[in-house]
Amino acid sequence: MPRPRTLLVTGGAGFIGSRFVAHHLRAKPADRVIVLDALTYAGSLDNLTCLADAAERVQFVHGSVRSPQIVESVLADCDAVVHLAAETHVPRSISDSSVFFETDVLGTQTMAALAVSRAPRLERFVHVSSSEVYGTALQDAMDEQHPLEPYTPYAAAKCAADRLIHAFVQTYALPGVIVRPFNNYGPGQHLEKLLPRFITSALRGDPLTVHGDGLAARDWIFVDDTCAAIERLLDAPLETVRGQVFNVGTGIATDVITLAREVVRLVGASPELIEHVPDRPGQLQKHCADTTKTRTQLGFTTATALGDGLRATIDWYREHRAWWERQLWMRSVPVVGPDGTIRHW
Ligand SMILES: NC(=O)c1ccc[n+]([C@@H]2O[C@H](COP(=O)([O-])OP(=O)(O)OC[C@H]3O[C@@H](n4cnc5c(N)ncnc54)[C@H](O)[C@@H]3O)[C@@H](O)[C@H]2O)c1
Repeated sequence: MPRPRTLLVTGGAGFIGSRFVAHHLRAKPADRVIVLDALTYAGSLDNLTCLADAAERVQFVHGSVRSPQIVESVLADCDAVVHLAAETHVPRSISDSSVFFETDVLGTQTMAALAVSRAPRLERFVHVSSSEVYGTALQDAMDEQHPLEPYTPYAAAKCAADRLIHAFVQTYALPGVIVRPFNNYGPGQHLEKLLPRFITSALRGDPLTVHGDGLAARDWIFVDDTCAAIERLLDAPLETVRGQVFNVGTGIATDVITLAREVVRLVGASPELIEHVPDRPGQLQKHCADTTKTRTQLGFTTATALGDGLRATIDWYREHRAWWERQLWMRSVPVVGPDGTIRHW
């Protein structure tokens, strides 16, 4: 049996982070987890049910990845890091990108610099990047060699952080590995994101607004599959993953209009709720993972078909109205266009 480890999870009070912490505590019953999270609008202690279920194995630290003092103090006793903390909502980055570069880029720089100088036990640093770094697909499925052509300020910030980790591996021998998840969905995702917006609109009988013709296609991956892939990256021998990039997706692209129709059907709402609105800037037309490397080198494939994942996600939103009703006012972000008009994305 591998020896017990102490894991630092940044952004662990957010959507993927909280799901990953619960996943890890189940998968590794002897491990301890430290969650570092600034509790921005996107993070909540309500997401960390493990604070009640497994309190003796979890420590929550309220603080920012931008703070060297806090980061140094939490890194001191850690064996591994899963770095998820970030600003994550594309339209917000179009509205104001400054905090995206502060958190996603400079926060990652703080984490990486202190990981190489102040974490004597550290044996793994899993950096959670994003498929958004690729931009729109130049071929049907994008492998890890696809050019990096970010379309939005969020994607540009994630791209800088992704390459910064690569540089720290080369320059300082950071035991780093980079994972590029595609579009995650599942229970507990903030209402600003597309699928929770569709699901909660269908549940309430509100319009499901689809940008443009709705033919923009994405690779939708259930959040638990992403958590399982991160586990693989924590467990793989270092020499097989150090400095490497791994896509995490299903390899199947589904367009937004098909997804909207499927949500409406599964919820039992009227298809007439689906409305088209003008496209937003920086929209990617096609975005799908080539999963060959993750499958052949990590032995990882996703386990959740889109229909099953959607049903589980819809059930969760049906049962957790109080959790999401307080986010209703955040379902869209006002963005001022070059001509001064305000659009809600
Ligand atoms: N959700 C997706 O579809 C997706 C896809 C690919 C990659 N990712 C990446 O996965 C990671 C997690 O995404 P998510 O969807 O769970 O995001 P999220 O917005 O739900 O959660 C982000 C978390 O980071 C925390 N945070 C923000 N600024 C912080 C700071 N300065 N210091 C410490 N904590 C801070 C927030 O409080 C929140 O808990 C991000 O790095 C994101 O870029 C997400």
